[in-house]
Amino acid sequence: MTASEIRALFAVASRPEVVSLAGGMPNLAALPLDALSVEVADLVAREGQVALQYGSAQGVPALREQICEVMRLEGVNADPNDVVVTVGSQMALDLVTRIYCDPGDVVLAEGPSYVGALGSFAAYQARVVHVAMDADGLIPEALRDALRTLGAQGITPKFLYTIPNFHNPAGVTLAVERRSEVLEICAEYGVAVIEDNPYGLLGFSGRVYPALRSMDPGVVYLGSFSKTFASGLRVGWALVPPAVRDRLVLAAESATLCPPSFNQMLVSRYLEGHDWRSQIKTFTEVYRDRRDALLSALETYLPEGCSWNVPDGGFYVWLTVPEGVDTKAMLPRAVTARVAYASGTGFYADGLGSRQLRLSYCYPTPERITEGVRRLAAVLEAELDVMRTFGSPVRSASPPPAVGRGPQTPSPDTA
Ligand SMILES: Cc1ncc(COP(=O)(O)O)c(C=O)c1O
Repeated sequence: MTASEIRALFAVASRPEVVSLAGGMPNLAALPLDALSVEVADLVAREGQVALQYGSAQGVPALREQICEVMRLEGVNADPNDVVVTVGSQMALDLVTRIYCDPGDVVLAEGPSYVGALGSFAAYQARVVHVAMDADGLIPEALRDALRTLGAQGITPKFLYTIPNFHNPAGVTLAVERRSEVLEICAEYGVAVIEDNPYGLLGFSGRVYPALRSMDPGVVYLGSFSKTFASGLRVGWALVPPAVRDRLVLAAESATLCPPSFNQMLVSRYLEGHDWRSQIKTFTEVYRDRRDALLSALETYLPEGCSWNVPDGGFYVWLTVPEGVDTKAMLPRAVTARVAYASGTGFYADGLGSRQLRLSYCYPTPERITEGVRRLAAVLEAELDVMRTFGSPVRSASPPPAVGRGPQTPSPDTA
């Protein structure tokens, strides 16, 4: 295991003078905290004996039913018996990897991919093969090519790990017409599909995409209340085929005995007694304003040679900087200039991403976002100045082709 770059960064980036565009912290200011505090007090007063006690390893039954209701918005028809509540979807990711993978096994993941997933894969010594994306998400042909190449070496990956909606970190969404194709290719090669979907309900146009799980009951679906309600409660879930469920419950039991009863019951009360759908709408309105502030600041301040995607939901913009700039090497200078981002290499298992960085617009206010981008642009200009004077100080091993300025597909080396 290695310390995640992002975790190390959190310590510095959380200083108040630094505008952090690094972490993916949801904006909890939009939550009805007064109403929730009444709910918390009532939960302790009326159901404290249960809420403060151990519970079932699979999770509170009423919540598992409500989770099925949430997933129905994405076309998923699920049985509450196949839902396992976990301590955030991160725990589900960890347990699923533990169940599926032995050391040395290969898993497929988009390039770039979620850093927490890469951490779990590394912890179980699974080898990650990245599959390219473009503006429409995972490229089916690239998936087929990867499977063909691995097949020629006698390797069948244990699963494809994919984030179809409002990808972290690439910000893109898998086109609807690609969804069944991806499933068909995986079925053809006998590869399981893990669908990680914490952002699916956070689309800015209000559009909800059909989950891969809605098209194939064999898909393992991971969900979370972290982004649609409260990340600190650490309540997520896995919807798994019955054959996997019992092993997942055993693995969950060995990890935590049971997920926290109190937190699950609070989420359950919230879903029951509050208009969670309009709360999600409120969240998306806040995030859309922040995305707009970020995009407009990027257009205004960034130098020539930068490109980025335009996310239609979720938290992230994936930025490619001019050739010769190394985003990891630049980060200390950016933090000194009081702006933080997540450098691209942390999102790849194979060392790519040195010309990319992730900007999160979920947490800072629009004014802070604008100021952060202004500072980032000044740091980039200074890097480019040094390069113009002395030549390129740090180059990536195989620099991706130069691109024009402005909104583009996620990144040249992922296309
Ligand atoms: C793609 C993805 N999967 C999983 C998680 C983990 O979420 P949770 O808070 O449910 O553990 C995150 C958190 O940022 C994420 O971005």
